[in-house]
Amino acid sequence: HPVVVLAGGLSHERDVSLRSGRRAAEALRGVGLEVVERDVDGSLLSTLAAEPPSCVLPMLHGENGEDGAIREVLDLLGIPYVGSGPAACRTAFDKPVAKSVVERVGIVTPESVCLPHESFRELGAAQVMDAVLHRLGLPLVVKPARSGSALGCALVSTETELPDAMVGAFAYGPVALIERYIGGTEVAVPVIDDGTGPRDLPAVAIRPDGPIYDYTARYTAGSTEFTVPAALPDDVLAECARVAIAAHQALGLRDLSRSDLIVGDDGSVRFLEVNVAPGFTETSLVPLSVEAAGLDLGEVLASLVRAAMA
Ligand code: DAL
Ligand code: MG
Repeated sequence: HPVVVLAGGLSHERDVSLRSGRRAAEALRGVGLEVVERDVDGSLLSTLAAEPPSCVLPMLHGENGEDGAIREVLDLLGIPYVGSGPAACRTAFDKPVAKSVVERVGIVTPESVCLPHESFRELGAAQVMDAVLHRLGLPLVVKPARSGSALGCALVSTETELPDAMVGAFAYGPVALIERYIGGTEVAVPVIDDGTGPRDLPAVAIRPDGPIYDYTARYTAGSTEFTVPAALPDDVLAECARVAIAAHQALGLRDLSRSDLIVGDDGSVRFLEVNVAPGFTETSLVPLSVEAAGLDLGEVLASLVRAAMA
């Protein structure tokens, strides 16, 4: 039976997912596996139930893909898949929830406020935003609580930019996360576990050509400068790896994750978020890190598939 790579879906990250899925499928074919690429549609479940694949590799990003929904169904059908289970995905995909879980094990995250849209309606948007500015100061980063690829994210440097940023975040969901902006270097650390325990792959330092690593900077070749392994002192790199593995474990993640961190100019490491279905596009971070580790992407994915089937 083939391995089914699930890609596409109906989230805002559909196009990214299709690119991730194609890359992952090609990598797996490159090491001799039989692979079928499958989008999500009304016939998916009946097809999977009628002809169960040996394993599913979910490359779906965003809502329904990373929030645990599809994995809950795969569990019901008894089909093995690579990656974290539904409950862990639900926790990890929600940025404010993930922050509070990792904070319990001592991981530092930027100070933040989490606001549901109703708070604006009921208490008055201007009053709520004043209170946020009073608490957190400036600059700020505003994000949808549950989304990916920086969609709906904005850097807020002046008070007058906050209302638009809030509207932008609420366009992607009913809850916004407002974090204090931490200057420094954004670093991504993949964690893989093919059965022998979680281990980190080389940290990727990200330098976008604009103020934030937004959607365009993520998916336009050449618009972001990556350094891998990140050019940071050894003790800082070790701390990045420790935080990524501790977050993976604290959230109960399996097989594969990528933690996005910010290293302050003083060398402090803070957790921003973790991705349970990190991107595998030509400009994505996990493939860069795998390559820098001297590993083959197809071999790494195949080892995760074998572990999921074991
Ligand atoms: N959400 C995108 C796919 C990423 O984190 O790579
Ligand atoms: Mg993300």
